Amino acid sequence: MTEEPTNEANADAEGDSQGDVVRRDRFSGGPARGFLSSLAADERIFEADLAVDRAHVVMLAEQGIVDDENAGAILDALDDIEDAGHGDLPDGEDIHAAIETAVIERVGPEGGRMHTARSRNDEVATCIRYRLREDLLDAIETVIGAREQLLETAREHAETLMPGFTHLQYAQPTTVGHYLLSYERALARDTERLFGAYERTNRSPLGSAAFAGTPFDIDRERTAELLGFDSVLSNSMDASSARDNLLEATTALSNLATTLSGLSEDFVIFANDGYVDLSDDYSSTSSIMPQKKNPDTLELVRSRAGDAHAAVSGLLTTLKGLPRAYNRDLQRATGHGWDAVDSVIEATEVAAGAVATAEWNADLLAREAGEGFSTATGVADLLAMSGVPFRTAHEMVALAAEKSDDPDYETLESAAQEVLGESLSAHVDREAERSEASEDASGEAASREAVEAALDPAQSVASRDSAGGPAPEAVATQLAAADDDLSADRESLAAERDALSAAETELRTEGAGYV
Ligand code: ARG
Repeated sequence: MTEEPTNEANADAEGDSQGDVVRRDRFSGGPARGFLSSLAADERIFEADLAVDRAHVVMLAEQGIVDDENAGAILDALDDIEDAGHGDLPDGEDIHAAIETAVIERVGPEGGRMHTARSRNDEVATCIRYRLREDLLDAIETVIGAREQLLETAREHAETLMPGFTHLQYAQPTTVGHYLLSYERALARDTERLFGAYERTNRSPLGSAAFAGTPFDIDRERTAELLGFDSVLSNSMDASSARDNLLEATTALSNLATTLSGLSEDFVIFANDGYVDLSDDYSSTSSIMPQKKNPDTLELVRSRAGDAHAAVSGLLTTLKGLPRAYNRDLQRATGHGWDAVDSVIEATEVAAGAVATAEWNADLLAREAGEGFSTATGVADLLAMSGVPFRTAHEMVALAAEKSDDPDYETLESAAQEVLGESLSAHVDREAERSEASEDASGEAASREAVEAALDPAQSVASRDSAGGPAPEAVATQLAAADDDLSADRESLAAERDALSAAETELRTEGAGYV
């Protein structure tokens, strides 16, 4: 496919490339050598860079830009460099330069052909995407694991009553199952966001060169295919400078960390209230106060949101206002993404373990479920269902709630009954003047039994069977839907993993063909 002139151009480039080595040394030897270099941090993209090099060389050979013999020698050198490991690389400004030097050390000047028709700019952009794909899939797998554990515990506790809170005050009774599902749902959306970031990461910048393309007859689709990318980024200037996928991934992780921080905060409070007993494995003690069992792991999970947000902030600040096309600032952007990946994956594992191993104190939770007149809304609902305008019912019940603090009333029920009885009969009298029907309906609502039922936390929960609500049958429906979502996500994850490993196998096979 490649015409002779291309190879001649390549031969010319060889001369340049040898000159390049000299120039590179000239510009990298000063006191800023260490400052310029990302070689240590680039360890994370060592495998990625080898894959990118292999795919590029296979494509150059297929296009006739590099002959098969040179391609074979370079591919052989890359295998050897892989075996020797990152620690064995020669010094260099970054992993791309170091691997190229290592290839030339093994192959001789012909090894310099590897860098034909590309730049470190498209190379690093490709490496980041290549590695980030794997990291995102790992993150997704971890979140799926956490969701699985939440669903299992939610199923066990679908009928375990607990108080629900707003503003940290007793609000309405709910169940542990309903509560845990609320976090599983949030994590399901976090999973969706990670898949979204994956989709936009899985596009190949390779072949954009510095930013302005190349005169060589390269095949960008082919390198994308060999590296398992779904598609090619169409504009070369965009392709080598874009880091929005890294930002998107970091933001998705940051969102996930925010979800986990709320869950952790709840568990810190619940552990202090005695609602849950954390496993010793996820607790810590005090160096001085021997009686202490502290929820430190969850406090650390909560703090990981700080790491993730810092990474988002670091990325946004680095990327903001960068001119087109490549600027070296981008080298510092990458690490923020890796920090978020590592920090949040670990936090997700720990949070899932702490939640799965915690014991719920069902007796205490049941006693607390009705605390603070938390069934008041149910009583107001009862009145409203019987025809009292909701706002009037709300006022009646508010009065009862105030009265229930009065020492004259022995129980909440007696206060509620009396106040509701009084205000309701006043209401009924008023309404009776207007309509017979409302008298009947409201009279029924005032029945002692109906009010008692509304005041009972278990019956209160059972009555709230609207879609998404805490009634056990509503929770059962939610559990089934969550199971379906989880299976679909597991399948998508497996499909992406398969696609990546198929591409890796193809690349190795194609490469081996030249060695
Ligand atoms: N190591 C660099 C990075 O991570 C790539 C080098 C591109 N260097 C350059 N001077 N254009 O972004």
